[in-house]
Amino acid sequence: RKPVTLPRLLDMHARGEPITVLTAYDASFGAVLDAAGIEVILIGDSLGMVVQGRDSTLPVTVDEVAYHTACVARGSKTAWIVADLPFGSYHGGIDLALANAVKLMQAGAHMVKVEGGEWLAPTIRAFVRAGIPVCAHLGLTPQSVHVLGGYRVQGRNDASAAQLRADAFALQDAGATMLVLEMVPAALAGRVTAELRIPTIGIGAGAQCSGQVLVLHDMLNVFPGRKPRFVRNFMDGASSIADAVARYRDAVKSRAFPAAEHSF
Ligand code: KIV
Ligand code: NA
Repeated sequence: RKPVTLPRLLDMHARGEPITVLTAYDASFGAVLDAAGIEVILIGDSLGMVVQGRDSTLPVTVDEVAYHTACVARGSKTAWIVADLPFGSYHGGIDLALANAVKLMQAGAHMVKVEGGEWLAPTIRAFVRAGIPVCAHLGLTPQSVHVLGGYRVQGRNDASAAQLRADAFALQDAGATMLVLEMVPAALAGRVTAELRIPTIGIGAGAQCSGQVLVLHDMLNVFPGRKPRFVRNFMDGASSIADAVARYRDAVKSRAFPAAEHSF
């Protein structure tokens, strides 16, 4: 199998083939996902919750994400590797943001992900100028949980839906080449997906996104905490972890997942 590149992902998007994304945090799971043909592996700051046992993503540091990125990169041969810039690591000026993004790229990432709207445009421009592809993240942005007041659906009223669409265009114009939409109504995610040039990756955002992502520990049902409505337990009926990952891939490719019961 050939390595997944950004042009290949954009080509899948152009052809309407769903992009499959899962998180991973270590070399063994990186290898399992890679072997199953998952195109994109995200080293999410969700590692704070599912690996470190914290109750939010806020304490995660860039060095921790870099460590887990290096682990995944050793295990994965072909997947496109995206690493989260964690809370506070891209908010204190562009030079600091760039230094932190460089750490993740040097650890083995191919793209970095940042949470937030139009205010990130100058940061995204600087990253792209420096040769760093950017995935943006709108809707429920867990690094802002204390501003948002909890892990809840975003973009439900007309004003916040309009704000999300404006942010999505601003991020695309700044040079973001992928956009995660988390916990937004399926109709809004479908509209944004149709309007943008770049692929959207949904989590709790309906079946019309250009691809889907889940947290690995959620879809394998090993995370002991509360499971959000948008998660499906892919171990249910699977013969192995590799089989569960293959079932996820097939369900996303055929748009059998997410179903209405996983959407808002
Ligand atoms: O940290 C993470 O795992 C994420 C995904 C849920 C999109 O940001
Ligand atoms: Na994240």
